[in-house]
Amino acid sequence: MRGMQKRIVYWLAAALLSPASLLAAPTVVGRDDQHLGVASCAGNTCHGSTRPFKDSKIRQDEYFVWQRKDAHAQAWLTLTSERSEAIARRLGLGPAEQAQECLVCHAESASQRGPRYQVSDGIGCEACHGAAERWIEPHAKGFHSLDERLEAGLYPTWDVHARAKLCASCHSGDPQHPMTHAIMAAGHPPILFELDTFQALTPPHWQIDEDYVRRKGPQDPARNWIVGQVAASIALLENLAGPRLGHGIFPELAFFDCDACHHSMKAGRARAERSAGLALGNVPAADAPLVMLGRWLDVVEPSLGERWDDQLRQFHIAGSAGTEALQAQARAMLAELHQSVLPKTDATVPSESLRRLIGRIVADARQSHSGDYEHAQQTAMAVSVLTTALVERGHAEVSDAQRAAVDALYNQVQDRDRFSAGSYAAALDRLSGAFHASAPSGIAGSP
Ligand code: HEC
Ligand code: HEC
Ligand code: HEC
Ligand code: HEC
Repeated sequence: MRGMQKRIVYWLAAALLSPASLLAAPTVVGRDDQHLGVASCAGNTCHGSTRPFKDSKIRQDEYFVWQRKDAHAQAWLTLTSERSEAIARRLGLGPAEQAQECLVCHAESASQRGPRYQVSDGIGCEACHGAAERWIEPHAKGFHSLDERLEAGLYPTWDVHARAKLCASCHSGDPQHPMTHAIMAAGHPPILFELDTFQALTPPHWQIDEDYVRRKGPQDPARNWIVGQVAASIALLENLAGPRLGHGIFPELAFFDCDACHHSMKAGRARAERSAGLALGNVPAADAPLVMLGRWLDVVEPSLGERWDDQLRQFHIAGSAGTEALQAQARAMLAELHQSVLPKTDATVPSESLRRLIGRIVADARQSHSGDYEHAQQTAMAVSVLTTALVERGHAEVSDAQRAAVDALYNQVQDRDRFSAGSYAAALDRLSGAFHASAPSGIAGSP
């Protein structure tokens, strides 16, 4: 069963690669290789140095960075905490550190365990880089190309689509890594995801310099952002389209806007503009990535943006109509995503369009989404990442006032319980002002 799951994961990852790399690597699908364990990577002439090597292509202190600074190293240990114990007890699962419901995301899904594999290593190297049984030897001798790596069974973390799919699988939750409302109601924190922000937070154990770009191709935060939004959209739509939506009186609530239900009943909260198409009093899906995708399309291909917004309206109408209608519309949008949207993510968005994109996101947030916490989190991250993209390209400077406005927006979304639609809207206004004050050379440009 677990081997099967793994095959599906590899297949999905391969299916997401750009057509060219897919053709180049028809043989990566379907691996049941052994996980050799983190200790197999941590030799001090391999990846276990305590500081970066000066004259090496890679840092070689990857293990050290992971173990000291990366939350993934603690992921299994977390399951032994009191909080996890309480979550598992409320769910009737037995010890969390042995419960498959938790291990799917908090440990390596090792279908075959080598002698040095330890579940207590949490999310180790092979959880992201692939089971090492077959690649460890050619890897130690040295690869000459990305194709050789892929051929040997390394997971293509360097490919932004495969990387986004990998991270989103646990951080958005997908059919192979199910997050449920029951788990959250038992005390699990809500999960969220934005690829570029999360890569930076990990923190990275890789260094993007000239040599990296020569070996692995250029990296662009703006591309990370949109491909991450696409991966989160696919995870949401697949969750909704599949059997996990459920058939009880209520569907699986993890896929819906938490704050639609969890909020105070003080008057004056009606948000008719929140999700076009949705009648008041209905529960919107957690549609933030679908909305962000629409803003990106507005800039990259406006006619497709209009079509997407129309589909999103139909999606919300379908959601009020019933499970089958919602599932049919989720499937239609998945097809549109794969056919029309994904191919567009391979082109670099020109800086002028990035400015307009930031303008579109901020304008839409002010107009339609200022009371929506999940959307607010995504807006704060998007503005920050896309601004960074412009700065990295050397096409914009961020003034102190602008940076302060971005930070202020971030502060608004730090804590769900303290989120206030009013002061978030004010922070959006300030941000909009800070960027427009310096237009046209500034960032927001005209919407
Ligand atoms: C196998 C599932 C899995 C995969 C794949 C995965 N993560 Fe995680 N990630 C987790 C879990 C579980 C935690 C929480 C660990 C803990 O605190 O116990 C986590 C924590 C994190 C954190 C820390 C969050 C915080 O609030 O401090 C960041 C950042 C992160 N992951 C980024 C990434 C990125 C980037 C990728 C893809 C390159 C990725 N993750 C892939 C499961 C995963
Ligand atoms: C769909 C993947 C997924 C599943 C399933 C899952 N978790 Fe998590 N868990 C995460 C991620 C991702 C984070 C980090 C959230 C963040 O900070 O963004 C996390 C964080 C946590 C935290 C908070 C850690 C901290 O340092 O604050 C606890 C506790 C936890 N999980 C326990 C559990 C338990 C117990 C189960 C099983 C009942 C479980 N998790 C199932 C993905 C998952
Ligand atoms: C949560 C996912 C994740 C985990 C866990 C992880 N990595 Fe990585 N690793 C990445 C990503 C993403 C990249 C950047 C993309 C790339 O270059 O392939 C990367 C890059 C690398 C690189 C390439 C650097 C370069 O310049 O080419 C090495 C080497 C590496 N990781 C080693 C390790 C080792 C050793 C471990 C375990 C101690 C580990 N990784 C654990 C996700 C992960
Ligand atoms: C359709 C309405 C609805 C949606 C959407 C919803 N919940 Fe709930 N939630 C409930 C109900 C009903 C309960 C049970 C309350 C009780 O037992 O009194 C609950 C319970 C909880 C609890 C237990 C504590 C409490 O307040 O009772 C948490 C935590 C929770 N939900 C988190 C979330 C998160 C996170 C999301 C979004 C991913 C979410 N919920 C989406 C209706 C909803």
